[in-house]
Amino acid sequence: MIRKIAVNTGGGDAPGLNAVIRAVVISALWRGWEVWGIRHGYRGLIVDDPNDLVRLERRSVRGITHLGGTILGSTNRGDPYHYPVEVDGTTQPMDVSGRLIERFKELGFDALIAIGGDGSLKLANRLLEQGLPRVIGVPKTIDNDLAGTDVTFGFQTAVATATDALDKLHSTAQAHERVMVVEVMGRYAGWIALYAGLAGSADIILIPEIEFDIERVCEKIRRREARGRHFAIVVVAEGAKPKGGHMTFKASKGEFSEHAQLGGIAQQVADQITARTGKETRSLVLGHLQRGGSPVTPDRILSLRLGTAATKYLAETDRSGMVSVRHGEIELTPFSEVAGKIRTVPLDSDTLRTGRDLGVCFGDEPAGTFLDGTMPPPPLRRYD
Ligand code: F6P
Repeated sequence: MIRKIAVNTGGGDAPGLNAVIRAVVISALWRGWEVWGIRHGYRGLIVDDPNDLVRLERRSVRGITHLGGTILGSTNRGDPYHYPVEVDGTTQPMDVSGRLIERFKELGFDALIAIGGDGSLKLANRLLEQGLPRVIGVPKTIDNDLAGTDVTFGFQTAVATATDALDKLHSTAQAHERVMVVEVMGRYAGWIALYAGLAGSADIILIPEIEFDIERVCEKIRRREARGRHFAIVVVAEGAKPKGGHMTFKASKGEFSEHAQLGGIAQQVADQITARTGKETRSLVLGHLQRGGSPVTPDRILSLRLGTAATKYLAETDRSGMVSVRHGEIELTPFSEVAGKIRTVPLDSDTLRTGRDLGVCFGDEPAGTFLDGTMPPPPLRRYD
């Protein structure tokens, strides 16, 4: 029997977090439950500060569906098994999980709704195994790379932002007859690069799932050049890597951070394009712009569906797990199917195939060839 629940948001933010919180709060209040927000991941349960644990009422979530960010705050330095604690003027890692679970129970919470990505959901599951009574995870990440669900909220908004940037870059690239190399987020998966690249008519899309050969990339640029197309747009996922090479990192994993920081591949690709083709090339990194702004309509709907489903599963079952989307339907997926796994772009994906059939170069096949190795018919090549 559920009477009092807690909700938190962890890891990098994603558009739609506030819509999920609103859906959780309204649907829980409607069931007669009390709802509390734990601020900044688990900080509200670890640090004894009344501002970090907030009662959520109907008025707390008014007018927030369309807002980016999260009213609860987030962190990717909040692992309770490795929590940064100040001791004698230095920051040291401490396992505060036991205290956290005790506090959760002392406060009378019957369940936690944890809104987060792979890291946050892994932690939520670990806390569940260690003693939290019930946990429902809600899959969040702009990267769209969580296993156990077909889609995560935030992804469509990030794609829309990146697509908009590509649309804008076309005119300046064309005006100056330059190559523009745009780095997008996505960590070890190429979903954002693939979707934004296709929607924004990129000529070349480089994703982590396909190691790229820079010579193939340059071939495509030269072929366009030969046809009088003196500019090109290259979208490169932050996790893309050259054949036999490595991903490019900007910073290694800090003691308390969730991940090492990817970044810098666009500049490398741009430098090599200039060196090999002589074309003037510029690079830019879209970065955290992709995590900001109002969620687009599909992300709002998905967030509201997932948030209400989270309380529904708490009310109607005694299970824990992640609310997920499978073939359009909401399900509850066991954490065992999610934890520690990521979902990358399948190489036989129809979307990838669509790109190839449109003549997009993925840095592997000779530019302009189909999957079966044949060349596209002349009408297609005219627009290459
Ligand atoms: O996982 C979401 C994401 O935005 C990745 O695409 C990116 O690599 C990472 O987070 C950046 O995280 P931050 O800069 O917040 O540490």
